[in-house]
Amino acid sequence: MTDKKGSKGTYYITTPIYYPSSNLHIGHTYCTVMADAMARFKRLSGYDVRFLTGTDEHGQKIQTLADAKGVTPQAYVDEVVDGIKKLWATMEISYDDFIRTTEPRHIRRVQKIFMKMYEKGDIYKGEYEGLYCTPCESFWTESQLVNGCCPDCGRPVQPAKEEAYFFKLSKYQDKLLDLFENNPEFLQPESRRNEMISFVKQGLDDLCISRSTFDWGIPVPIDEKHVIYVWLDALTNYITALGYPDEPELYDKYWPANVHLVGKEIVRFHTVIWPAMLMSADLPLPKQVLGHGWLLLGGEKVSKSKAAKGKDVVDPVILIDRYGIDALKYFLLREYTFGQDGVFTNEVMLKRMNYDLANDLGNLVSRTVSMIEKYCGGFVPESKTEDDIDRELKSIATGAAAKVETQMDKFAFNMALEEIWIVVRRANKYIDEKTPWILAKDPEKKAELDTVMHNLAETLRIVSVLIYPFMHTTSKEIRKQLGLWYSDVVWEDAFEFDMMYGEQVKKGDPIFPRLDIEKELEELSALGAAKDAPAAAEPENIPLELKPEIVYDDFDKIDFRVGTILSAEKHPKADKLLVFQVKLGTERRQIVSGVAEYFKPEEMVGKKVIVVANLKPRQLRGMESKGMLLFADNGDRCEIVTTIAEDGNPVT
Ligand code: MSP
Repeated sequence: MTDKKGSKGTYYITTPIYYPSSNLHIGHTYCTVMADAMARFKRLSGYDVRFLTGTDEHGQKIQTLADAKGVTPQAYVDEVVDGIKKLWATMEISYDDFIRTTEPRHIRRVQKIFMKMYEKGDIYKGEYEGLYCTPCESFWTESQLVNGCCPDCGRPVQPAKEEAYFFKLSKYQDKLLDLFENNPEFLQPESRRNEMISFVKQGLDDLCISRSTFDWGIPVPIDEKHVIYVWLDALTNYITALGYPDEPELYDKYWPANVHLVGKEIVRFHTVIWPAMLMSADLPLPKQVLGHGWLLLGGEKVSKSKAAKGKDVVDPVILIDRYGIDALKYFLLREYTFGQDGVFTNEVMLKRMNYDLANDLGNLVSRTVSMIEKYCGGFVPESKTEDDIDRELKSIATGAAAKVETQMDKFAFNMALEEIWIVVRRANKYIDEKTPWILAKDPEKKAELDTVMHNLAETLRIVSVLIYPFMHTTSKEIRKQLGLWYSDVVWEDAFEFDMMYGEQVKKGDPIFPRLDIEKELEELSALGAAKDAPAAAEPENIPLELKPEIVYDDFDKIDFRVGTILSAEKHPKADKLLVFQVKLGTERRQIVSGVAEYFKPEEMVGKKVIVVANLKPRQLRGMESKGMLLFADNGDRCEIVTTIAEDGNPVT
């Protein structure tokens, strides 16, 4: 690559900092691969890029995991972080800095930022009473719970009370609304922005920002009995990594960030809490937060607990070992639409790899290089003739870079790659139209044959530039085979044709070998099953974490009835809620449940369900809910409680 670093200004992009609770899975890889592609694209197009990633290492969850393993939290995270860094090294993720929240540089800076907010009068001491979700490290109020469980992960919450420090988040409510309303670019996609506007409009409570029930965290500088809330600690990473406040050189250069790339469930932290913290510290806000969707496995978010189960392999290391980094990166960037959830299956992945990479791109490279060897003595010839088909190929090839730029501006990685594949497919068709093997038989057609070979080499050269941000190893391999090993990848060259003459091509191994999909599916499935083994071998009979014990009289107050779901639909104003019409004996009633993430409305109709019939009715986002359907936490799944027939199927 040429060094035109910074000619277009600076570009600061971040991923979330990952929890090192266990190894990362394909879902995390997805976010980092997107950030990496964008960082590489911006560098190639002339920006001075800073790309930050890291790990979020404090909090009760880590402490609990370390205790269970009998090691210190630091030893626990050191081991997992080591694995994360190795994964990124294997994938050649081009980050400029990796911040760990346990590093001294972060710790002292978080404390300084805390003090800045404190001195502003935005932090005060109070008493916190609430419901705590340990896996999410989040306190919730009763009204935020969905079916009595954490609205983010659906798991049970525990009552908790502690003396704590609070951040005056409520003070920033109006400023935050102004931010969303006057600056639509700040949060995208639009649907997430609307969600946040209604969230803030409901009213913001002050935020509890310290904990005293465990000590794996950064001490509150004015009160060592408390540690700073893990989200406050984590969010500051985006500026502590730049040296704010004590070594502000990088901060002055790169802040505010151009974009924080985050998963949809943590948009709230990044677009409400983080801007409010920055407002409190009188610092500029990031220019944009982009919330991407989740990769789903069998309808549910790929998660660390799910990663060990099932036939689909979600361990990126296994997939890279079998198919290579570029194939995996291509698949992740091409298959899914930014902002939307997407389903991951081995089959979808293998088909993409075969059709787009082995067939389309791989074939184009091997056919072009073989034919130049065969018909032109291995040297790229000059173009000597031109007809409409040549002109069309040239215009599609030289026009692609601008289209890729437009798509990348929208973070539409899949569409950017589609623009490139339009060129690849057109070039394959060009070969079939021009039939070089027939031209080669007629010495009078030599000039035309040379033109065809030249145009194919040129088109592949352009493709090698265009794919560089997404698949830099493949880009280099193509350039090596084209005899372009000596030259740098320069983005502007993708707009030019007729740059090559006399390069010596050299056929290499197929860049993407064709996969036998059936065989791969079987083998992957066996690998998925093999990954179940350690899970099955885990020690049994570990007591569950439950809500406090109740007595029979408590239970006896509940009136359970069997009902039939007559209809189910999405709540018009809340993505998480489903609105059910249920028949209970002689009565029809409406029940609203927060399970839209887990069930499709149509699959609920006709089910016989157990209803808590005497629960006091309440309004949920403007709709009455009279009673409650029973759902139960099944480890990593939320399941509906139905009456079951003898054949084991739900009675419908
Ligand atoms: N530590 C916090 C982030 C703090 S940032 C100041 C955290 N960590 S996480 O490890 O749980 O998740 C990190 C990111 O991975 C999130 O953006 C999350 O959306 C993403 N993903 C986790 N599972 C995912 C999928 N199955 N699919 C796509 N992204 C997923 O949250």
